[in-house]
Amino acid sequence: MASKPNEKRTFQTLSNNDNQRERSGMSVYLEHVPTQSLPVTTTAASRCVKFALVLIAAISTIVFQLWLPSTVTVTDILGESTPCAGAKDFDWYSLEPSRDIRWTSCYSDQKCARLLLPLDYDIPDGPATAIALRIIPATDKENYRGTLLLNPGGPGGSGTEFIARRGIDISQIVGGSYDVLGFDPRGIGATTPAARCFDTESQWKLWELQRDTRLLNLTDDTVHIARAREKLLTARCEEKIGGEWGIARFAGTHLVARDMLEIVERLGQQKVHYWGFSYGTVLGQYFAALYPQKVGRLIIDGVFDAYSYRANIWNTSLVDTDAVIASFFQHCHHAGPEKCALWEPSPA
Ligand SMILES: *[C@@H]1O[C@H](CO)[C@@H](O)[C@H](O)[C@H]1NC(C)=O
Ligand SMILES: *[C@@H]1O[C@H](CO)[C@@H](O)[C@H](O)[C@H]1NC(C)=O
Repeated sequence: MASKPNEKRTFQTLSNNDNQRERSGMSVYLEHVPTQSLPVTTTAASRCVKFALVLIAAISTIVFQLWLPSTVTVTDILGESTPCAGAKDFDWYSLEPSRDIRWTSCYSDQKCARLLLPLDYDIPDGPATAIALRIIPATDKENYRGTLLLNPGGPGGSGTEFIARRGIDISQIVGGSYDVLGFDPRGIGATTPAARCFDTESQWKLWELQRDTRLLNLTDDTVHIARAREKLLTARCEEKIGGEWGIARFAGTHLVARDMLEIVERLGQQKVHYWGFSYGTVLGQYFAALYPQKVGRLIIDGVFDAYSYRANIWNTSLVDTDAVIASFFQHCHHAGPEKCALWEPSPA
């Protein structure tokens, strides 16, 4: 089953050195903010240095992201502010992928697994993808309510890294009664096969550098450069991740929605509980449309109009901007002068 032709495919480009260790997730379309290296061979200290670099990179990309027709949420922008404390090395590739979920302890009190699912659900015994799963177990076991799946957005965002950044907060927000689960969608992060159009991180960075230094703009004399770059990139991606069994054909949103269902069923649960941000709201809407009977509790946060997304129009993303800002001031006012530095006697 191929991705539908119009579906906005995102290729997570990860460096792939011989040892498959040094990684940095970035996708061609939106999720340009570099993600942290997988904590595999890096030490906590070196990750802190990297974190600082990532922050700088993240700040410099905000400007870039703002002129993209995307729903960049605050989470996307601030999402990289991972505290270094507690960072622990973990080798995802030491986990044997399996068709049932076998949890292994990771990142101190969390659990990780790699779940094998068919690339093509019509060919269940054909080539598989190993989906990386990372969970923060529920703290309130007495009131246990199931597993909450997360998607941070992108498309191209890593759910396992999102757990590192926001998992504890989210676990607390939902009262500790859910296992909070981040998964790396097809092609992304520690999930294999990875959708990478470049062989190394340096290749990718050089490519991006040319864009970020504003070599390209919309003047007549540069449009042809932009076109040439798109053609090159397309050819590269076709070579690296295209083809009959290339991951590009099997990374569509509808398949990720099916993966979510499979994950939850393998956990022995009936309904999917889900919290998705930004592009994750598209994924949530796809899931609800495809499997309405399987929806438990579903939050879509920073909502992207899925029709507009799917039709590649993307013109509805700003329609609620004024209402969102008004709501921010309402809440800020409600929080009071102690907590809200912008507080005024009236929210308007
Ligand atoms: C557009 O790009 C060209 C080539 O890099 C450059 O010479 C020109 O100054 C740029 N124009 C603007 C408005 O940035
Ligand atoms: C978005 O584009 C569609 C199709 O062109 C149009 O029907 C719709 O009114 C537009 N919506 C907004 C908010 O601009």
